[in-house]
Amino acid sequence: MSTQSDNQPVPAENRASGWVIFVFFLIGLIASLISGWIAFPNLLYSTKQQPIDFNHKVHVEQMGGQCNSCHFFRDDGSFSGQPTLDECKSCHMYPMSNDPDEKKFIEEYVKKDKEVPWLIYAEQPPCVFFSHAAHVNGAEMECGTCHGDIGQSTSLREYQENRITGYSRDIWGYGMLRIGEARHGRRHKMNDCAECHLKETGSKGDCFQCHK
Ligand code: HEC
Ligand code: HEC
Ligand code: HEC
Ligand code: HEC
Ligand code: HEC
Repeated sequence: MSTQSDNQPVPAENRASGWVIFVFFLIGLIASLISGWIAFPNLLYSTKQQPIDFNHKVHVEQMGGQCNSCHFFRDDGSFSGQPTLDECKSCHMYPMSNDPDEKKFIEEYVKKDKEVPWLIYAEQPPCVFFSHAAHVNGAEMECGTCHGDIGQSTSLREYQENRITGYSRDIWGYGMLRIGEARHGRRHKMNDCAECHLKETGSKGDCFQCHK
C-alpha cells in the first residue's frame, strides 16, 4: 500500500545527506581497516620489560671478548644458559658505576641473593627439544647465527609475548636474526630449524628429533 509521500520526489537536502552518510561510511570503513592492520599485531602481542637492563657490550669487553665466563657448557655437556648471580657477584657486591640499573640489580637481587628473572627471547614451547651442545660444539655454529648480534648490544630490547599461546614472539626466525630492529619481520618458526637441517644434513629430520 503506497502512501502519498512515497510517490513524492526525494527532496534535494535528503539526497545530499544520503551522500554525506555514504562518505562517512567509507571514511569509517577505511579508518577501521587501517587501524585493524596496525593494531592487530599490537593486540596479538603484549610487551613485557626485562626486570633490569643489561649492557652486553661493556661486559663482553670486561671479559676480553669472551662469552663463556657467563654462558658455558657444564662438565656433563649441558649448557648453562642464562647466567646466575654466581657469575656476577665477583664484581657487583659493590657498585661499579652510577647506573640506575646496576643500583637496582644490587639492591633487589645481589643483596637479597635473589636470581634475576630474565625473560628468554628465544624460548621454545615445552614440547620442543633443543640442544646447544649439538649446535655449538657438534656443528661448530656461532652464537650469532641464531641469536644475532646480542653480544654487541648495549641495551635489552622489549620482550613480546603472544597473548594466545603465551610464547615469545622470537621463538625462532627472523625476529631473532634482526635483533635491534624496532619492527620484527616475518616470523619463521619450525621451518627455520628444519630448513637449516635440510641444508646442513640433507634431511629435515623426523618429528621426534625435535619434539619430546
Ligand atoms: C657478564 C656476563 C655476560 C657475558 C660475558 C655475556 N653475556 Fe650473554 N647474557 C648475560 C645476561 C645477564 C643475560 C640475560 C639478559 C639478556 O637477555 O641479555 C644474557 C643473555 C644472552 C642471550 C639471550 C638469549 C635469549 O634468547 O634470551 C644471548 C643469545 C647471549 N646472552 C649471548 C651472549 C654472547 C654471544 C656473548 C659473548 C659475545 C655473551 N652473551 C656474553 C650475561 C652475559
Ligand atoms: C668482571 C666484572 C663484572 C662482572 C663479572 C659483571 N659485571 Fe656488570 N658491570 C661491570 C662494570 C665494570 C660495569 C660498569 C660499566 C660502565 O659503566 O662502563 C658494570 C655494569 C653493570 C650494570 C649497569 C649497566 C648495564 O646496564 O649493564 C648492570 C645492570 C650489570 N653490570 C649487571 C651485571 C650482571 C647481571 C652480571 C652477571 C651476569 C654482571 N653485571 C657481571 C663489571 C662486571
Ligand atoms: C642453532 C641455533 C642456536 C645457536 C647456534 C645458539 N643458540 Fe642459544 N638458543 C637457541 C634456542 C632455540 C634457544 C631457546 C632454547 C629453549 O627454549 O629450549 C636458545 C637459548 C639461549 C639462551 C637462553 C637460556 C637457555 O639456554 O634457554 C642463552 C643465554 C643462549 N641461547 C646463549 C647462546 C650462546 C652464548 C650461544 C653461542 C655459544 C648460543 N646461544 C648459540 C638457539 C641457538
Ligand atoms: C643454521 C642451522 C641450524 C638451525 C637454524 C638449527 N639447527 Fe639443529 N642442527 C644443525 C646441525 C648442523 C646439526 C648437527 C647435525 C648432525 O650432527 O648430524 C643439528 C642438530 C640438531 C639436533 C640433533 C641433536 C642430537 O644430538 O642428535 C636437534 C634435536 C636439533 N638440531 C634441533 C633444532 C631445533 C629445535 C632448531 C630450531 C629451534 C634447530 N635445531 C635449528 C643445524 C641447525
Ligand atoms: C628441526 C626441528 C623440528 C622438526 C623436525 C619438527 N618440529 Fe615441530 N616444532 C619445532 C619448533 C622449534 C617448534 C616451535 C616453534 C613453532 O611453533 O613453530 C615446533 C612446533 C610444533 C607444533 C606446535 C606446538 C605448539 O605448542 O605450538 C606442532 C604441532 C609441531 N611442531 C608438530 C611437528 C610434527 C608433526 C613434526 C613432524 C612432521 C615436527 N613438528 C617436526 C621444531 C621441529
